[in-house]
Amino acid sequence: MTFRIRKAVFPVAGLGTRFLPATKTVPKEMLPVVDKPLIQYAVDEAIEAGCDTLVFVTNRYKHSVADYFDKAYELEQKLEKSGKSELLSLIRDVLPRHVRAVFVTQAEALGLGHAVLCARPVVGDEPFAVLLPDDLIWNTGHGALRQMAELAERESASVIAVQDVPREQTGSYGIVATRDFSGRHGEISAIVEKPKPEVAPSNLAVVGRYVLSGGIFDRLAKTRPGAGGEIQLTDGIAALMEKERVLAYRFEGRRFDCGSRIGLVEATMQFALDHEDLAEPTREFMRAALAR
Ligand code: UTP
Repeated sequence: MTFRIRKAVFPVAGLGTRFLPATKTVPKEMLPVVDKPLIQYAVDEAIEAGCDTLVFVTNRYKHSVADYFDKAYELEQKLEKSGKSELLSLIRDVLPRHVRAVFVTQAEALGLGHAVLCARPVVGDEPFAVLLPDDLIWNTGHGALRQMAELAERESASVIAVQDVPREQTGSYGIVATRDFSGRHGEISAIVEKPKPEVAPSNLAVVGRYVLSGGIFDRLAKTRPGAGGEIQLTDGIAALMEKERVLAYRFEGRRFDCGSRIGLVEATMQFALDHEDLAEPTREFMRAALAR
């Protein structure tokens, strides 16, 4: 089987309770970091990794995600008439022409594993990527998913992004144990969802980027609710590992947990400091604010 990925799944049907009251009407994935919503950063990363079919798993409250990727006729006409060509290309380029967006519904938020399973009719049984847009990965070189896609192709195996976390935080993540680790990757020997620090097999935490073989769907279809009463992607991956190799990959780049308030604040500062127009004024503001 070739492990070339073309399809990327974005599970965006969660409730986003950590950002209430904002997420009462604005989906978490539409929260901006500087001038782009979180979902756009994840989409750009998937396209850079070679994906041309983007599958958004949404629910009835997330119309704005579909609207964002749709054509904005009135706005385009206005910008065209007033000769604002730069702004026009900004809104036209949210998706390049060769990329298509497909929307599937998760009627009930039964968990991340269930959300991924909802994408099965579009993905089929080929290898695919999963990106959680609230994990924003900043990197000046290749994006994290591209790094993973290259490894998956080279090794013909599923690949999961991991990062080291302090042991006291293992209860917030899926945690993996690996056999040998060479360079940035190693084969996963165990994976558990949100273990307490005293029973966690390591402090290597799974973050929101996956390259998975189509074999995951059969496993997810049989997965029962696990941690938190949700159908967990982690449990589906544990079942997949009984038949196939799954690798952990320590990506190059810095992850911001934009599912948490502090993560979103940190990402905003980092992206502003890295922005060609905003870097200097941001630095000045920070210096002054810290001196106060
Ligand atoms: P989170 O654990 O961050 O949950 O989901 P959440 O509901 O989005 O946010 P909080 O914790 O209430 O603030 C991780 C990812 O899985 C998706 C979410 O949209 C997010 O991208 N997800 C989760 C689904 O698509 N469906 C689900 O049933 C659960």
